[in-house]
Amino acid sequence: MRLPARVKLVEVGPRDGLQNEPHPVPAVMKIALIERLADSGLSVIEAGSFVSPKAVPQMADSGEVLFKLRPRKGVSYPVLVPNMKGLETALAAGAREIAVFASASESFSQKNLNCSIEASLERFGEVCSEAHSHNLPIRGYVSCALGCPYEGTVSPAAVTRVAEALHRLGCYEISLGDTIGTGTPGQARELFYTVAQAVPHERLAGHFHDTCGQALANILAVMDCGITIFDSSVAGLGGCPFAPGATGNVASEDLLYMLDGLGIETGVNLAALIEAGNAICAHLGRPTGSKVARARAMKKTFKNPIIC
Ligand code: HMG
Ligand code: MG
Repeated sequence: MRLPARVKLVEVGPRDGLQNEPHPVPAVMKIALIERLADSGLSVIEAGSFVSPKAVPQMADSGEVLFKLRPRKGVSYPVLVPNMKGLETALAAGAREIAVFASASESFSQKNLNCSIEASLERFGEVCSEAHSHNLPIRGYVSCALGCPYEGTVSPAAVTRVAEALHRLGCYEISLGDTIGTGTPGQARELFYTVAQAVPHERLAGHFHDTCGQALANILAVMDCGITIFDSSVAGLGGCPFAPGATGNVASEDLLYMLDGLGIETGVNLAALIEAGNAICAHLGRPTGSKVARARAMKKTFKNPIIC
């Protein structure tokens, strides 16, 4: 198996993780979470989204969060932007990097963005050109890359068309999202192999929700295809309000544990990451979704040095 020496981790917990919480998390807690994540060594932390507060009330205070975050050298805080209005408010709050998000399935595009794929790409064209005039780097997402909650199967060719369009708009990196978390390693490998015929593989990232427990296996499968950038969510938090039934992304702690075990460099400290996850779960009043964080807690309880 081909394994990279280094992997870049993109932490999406404060956005993807908290956007689906039944009760909005106060800005002060979001900021504390982001600071802890940065303390752990993560260098890309998605800090929020500038979407309609009617669509996603949980992210309504993203401006306050971004404004109050202490800038750190070498750490970026991208925020999701769906349209020009979102870009204007993100810029006003001090955004230094944005992410745009299109879908490979028409039905999900309608539910998530209230427009067709083509209309969303037109909108993002305007957003990207304005963002570039402010020298903002832009990350791109393609949702429903391994299946749609409304249409079922999505072809790699459909994903490629959208990824290629985002690449043409100047996205420096394109994250292929298994929004519903049902993809398996063979499908993930075929997807990345196909998209990499049109977009250089170094610019592709994997964004695996873990609904069916396949996320780590999918990551391992696509690392073997040369992919070295992965999104994850601390404590496995999250989901998408427009993909009912889907769970959070692969837990950052579990991904890091696997990468550490493989000797792959990330620059992130596992103990500090576990602390960040445990703190937000204590606030949310529920157990962590990270198996590694749970195992570490058991290790303390049972004073068993053998457990990871
Ligand atoms: P719309 O209703 O078509 O927008 O929504 P509109 O332009 O007709 O405006 C309607 C109202 O929304 C107006 O307010 C606008 O001002 C307001 P009103 O006059 O009724 O009071 N509005 C806004 N307010 C604040 N910020 C804005 C904004 N835009 C309009 N930016 C829209 C279209 C795209 C805005 C809406 O559908 C929306 O916000 N969608 C976002 C959905 C979302 O955040 N989904 C979750 C993130 S995607 C995801 O999780 C997947 C990902 O993780 C990858 C993966 O897992 O695959 C990235
Ligand atoms: Mg997601």
